[in-house]
Amino acid sequence: MINDKFLEKNSDVPSVISKTLIQTIVKQSILPQHSVHGISHWARVFKNGCTLARLNNAKIEVVQLFAVFHDAKRDNDDKDFEHGQHSAEYAASLRGTLFNL
Ligand SMILES: [Fe+2]
Repeated sequence: MINDKFLEKNSDVPSVISKTLIQTIVKQSILPQHSVHGISHWARVFKNGCTLARLNNAKIEVVQLFAVFHDAKRDNDDKDFEHGQHSAEYAASLRGTLFNL
């Protein structure tokens, strides 16, 4: 499963992203898994974001959650100006059940 690969790729980094959370997000995404803004992109954002967070003493759990949510509600790989807002609303709907922050 591609969501297992996401977790394997990032197994060297302590993560707040559970298998259930990533499975839930991937399942509802309407983009093809290998799209430009799909899970491989989320994994790169996760890895690079964690590196930058460590260098800047940022809250790593915020960076990790951003990585997996920021494109979760995209309608397409082109112009979707509302995807950030929709993704934030989606994240808020799962807060307290699939993750805590
Ligand atoms: Fe993105």
